[in-house]
Amino acid sequence: MRRSAQNGDTVSEPAVVPAPRLLQAGSSAPFAVTADVAVSGPADAVRTLRDAVRSRTGLDLPASPDGAAVTLAIEPGSPESYVLDVDAASVRLLAADDAGLFYGVHTLVQLLAQDETGWVVPDVHLEDAPRFAYRGVMLDVARHFHGLDTVTAYIERAAALKFNVLHLHLSDDQGWRIEVPSRPLLTARASGSAVGGDGGGFFTRDDYRAIVAHAAAHHMTVVPEIDVPGHTHAVSLAYPEVCAPPAISDHLRDEARQRGEALPIAGIAYEGIAVGFSSLRIDDEDTDRFLADVIGDVAEITPGPYVHIGGDEAHGTPPADFARFMERATRLVASLGRTPIAWHEAGAAAGLAPGSIGQYWGFRTPTDGMDEKARAFVRGGGQLILSPADAVYLDMKPDADFALGLTWANGPTTLRRSYDWDPAAVIDGVGDEEIHGVEAPLWTETARDLADIDALAFPRIAAAAEAAWSPALGSDARRTWDSFRERVAQLAPLWTRRGIGFTPLAEVDWTRE
Ligand code: ACM
Repeated sequence: MRRSAQNGDTVSEPAVVPAPRLLQAGSSAPFAVTADVAVSGPADAVRTLRDAVRSRTGLDLPASPDGAAVTLAIEPGSPESYVLDVDAASVRLLAADDAGLFYGVHTLVQLLAQDETGWVVPDVHLEDAPRFAYRGVMLDVARHFHGLDTVTAYIERAAALKFNVLHLHLSDDQGWRIEVPSRPLLTARASGSAVGGDGGGFFTRDDYRAIVAHAAAHHMTVVPEIDVPGHTHAVSLAYPEVCAPPAISDHLRDEARQRGEALPIAGIAYEGIAVGFSSLRIDDEDTDRFLADVIGDVAEITPGPYVHIGGDEAHGTPPADFARFMERATRLVASLGRTPIAWHEAGAAAGLAPGSIGQYWGFRTPTDGMDEKARAFVRGGGQLILSPADAVYLDMKPDADFALGLTWANGPTTLRRSYDWDPAAVIDGVGDEEIHGVEAPLWTETARDLADIDALAFPRIAAAAEAAWSPALGSDARRTWDSFRERVAQLAPLWTRRGIGFTPLAEVDWTRE
């Protein structure tokens, strides 16, 4: 905990990220966390708290049926909300539901600090609830495959920042990553490749079920994405009859030459990072059967309400064909009782399934009519997920010299740029009512393992968490860059203790323990 002078008084500034709705720091003595402090409440929340305190402090707090100094309980309130009261004698966490308890526990763990006496929690009254219902992170397991251990670790990292959705980008030109029983050749023939000739891999159905279960245990929903009709070169290794030949444009030739990459050839694994050349065959019964098989099998093992069907960068698909295809694909998802999500380009299609959700990945200031395509989802009775690429694409370089990452989204994305934007200020006519939530994607052209993912995602993922959870940018003194810069600095010891290899960007004066 930091102390700073205000009006001559010394006031505490407990650091919570994402910023809570209300935090009042008191002036009485802190609550001392010692090995005999008992915890009572619902078993899952007690376990979460005891595990988190043990990993942070080494203290093994006893669980107690009741009468404990640390009490966790459920009390009616808005979804995912909680109230936390700490004074010298007790810690009381009241939450509306299990998710609220989980988030309150993670707030409490962020408040843990060491003073001369040992571990303490400062005197605070804190009321908190999310701004948006959908708070996502996306992991691209197609450009590079990331296995069960990495995905479960990423779930734990994201959930601790109050994200509640894991979107898995399961298919792309470079590889197919999910077992589909009705189409066994996808994993047999199209999963072995990745960017740069690195090895591939895929999730079995049991792997995927394990991810879904681990996510659920951390109050996260898994959204599977099967990206169609573009980003489908890998399919040509398994079911060539449903794929159009690669569309080799002059732009693609130039890009490939500059990077020294081979051009895509149907039926041969693609290891480059260019986009926009592949397409499924449209208006083709084989393709329609293929899509129904794949989406049906993926939906079957997905308990969550959403299936993402991509729709981005389908430059190899003629526009009218693209529109008809996305209409059919969203209707297929809806027929399975799920809400379709698609990247904003699909808003070009007039007849998407009503209520389809669009994911906007243009810049904070929209270009090229991307905002109009995004607004079409709202006109169709749906909402938008905001993922402005020049703010929350975690795979962008944080500075020009960074070894990992890309720069196409308006150059490097500094921590400040990832923080200084508000979801309701991106697309005209799209305010809080029209916004389903915020999602921070991490594409993995350059990310080969968890260390790379950590180095790219942290600390900018914390800025995205704040856009998704906290009140609007600038709505109070805490929702400012200056406050965030100070608060995020104080997470460094916690992240280090958890083994998170964050990048100590020079924009922040990081706390050392
Ligand atoms: C995207 O970045 N192509 C969604």
